[in-house]
Amino acid sequence: MSAPDVQAPAPAPALIPTLGGRYYTDPDIFVSEQENVFEAMWFCAARTADLADAGAFKKVTVGRESVLVVRGRDGALRAFLNICRHRGAMLCTEDEGQVRRNLQCPYHAWTYGLDGKLVAAPNMAALRDETGADIDRVRYGLVPVALREWLGYAWVCLADEPPSFEDEVIGSVTERLGDPAAIDRYEIGTLELGRRITYDVAANWKLIIENFMECYHCATIHPELTEVLPEFADGLAAQYFVGHGAAFGDEVEGFTIDGSGGFEALSGISDDQDRKYYAITVRPQVFVNLVPDHVIFHRMYPMSADRTIVECDWLYAPDVTASGRDVSRSVELFHRVNEQDFDACERTQPTMSSKAYRDGGVLVPAEHHIGEFHDWLLTRLGGDAK
Ligand code: FES
Ligand code: FE
Repeated sequence: MSAPDVQAPAPAPALIPTLGGRYYTDPDIFVSEQENVFEAMWFCAARTADLADAGAFKKVTVGRESVLVVRGRDGALRAFLNICRHRGAMLCTEDEGQVRRNLQCPYHAWTYGLDGKLVAAPNMAALRDETGADIDRVRYGLVPVALREWLGYAWVCLADEPPSFEDEVIGSVTERLGDPAAIDRYEIGTLELGRRITYDVAANWKLIIENFMECYHCATIHPELTEVLPEFADGLAAQYFVGHGAAFGDEVEGFTIDGSGGFEALSGISDDQDRKYYAITVRPQVFVNLVPDHVIFHRMYPMSADRTIVECDWLYAPDVTASGRDVSRSVELFHRVNEQDFDACERTQPTMSSKAYRDGGVLVPAEHHIGEFHDWLLTRLGGDAK
């Protein structure tokens, strides 16, 4: 007798566990993340156009280090540890600024060129190293940090042997978009800043990434976004990687707060990229959103286990910014999304230390890719237990 031709129903997709609450609150875990993630990988530090002139600098916290990104007199952008080689004072204490010729330590006035070399110190002619020779201006210069420029941003890496930028950063983007040229068509490096908003978020950096990775919450908290991108309303989209492009609603004219028309599409994009939204997460701390007439570029700066600064740039074609056209309707859409997302993260952070979340929560099927992020993190931290 043959078996009845009845197929067993497919098992319902399982819930899978998240990280336990301590991963979002424990300062020791945060230190391990600083060491194994932010100090080990390429970290997006600054917009290069903010540092256009020689002597312009920006101070950035990368993991446990303070890093200075500086424009040299030769036009090159360089990065250094922001630490004086004499007795270790922090060299620049302002977040950003402009020096005329050199960087001078405010403690005993050791002075460094914009290329990091020691150029002067009080009584320098009398200074000798341990062999009695003149002091070596490079050896006692600022400690250099690896820097690469891509998409109009300076990315730095504190690792002694930085991983391949092509593989870790560029490759991760082109691979996810499928077409290696897809991101190049937006010519992000040529766009200009229309608006920057900085958010000081009282939440662990992973809550922000995890939130960005799922759209299960979109129908609940993003009424304006789901109006423009109807496919986000079903909660299934993975917002971190909309590689196929989420189509605008039929009635929607542009990626604006009310769906009204935006600006002309960026000149390089393909017909296929028009009227679509793409989103990419570049681990560990960058989110890029691509829409036809602008690009939204987020960088996260994790400051402590329960605080993350997020800097968000809205970038437009140079003729849009030069003409003084009003960008506020397109800025307002993602600004509102950011506020809605960061409110949710801030509501979640305080309860991470509750005993109700000691063993974590669960991921529904639409969030399962967050589990991959957790596995990736645990591998980087060298641990295995959740
Ligand atoms: Fe900088 Fe002394 S610590 S000059
Ligand atoms: Fe969201």
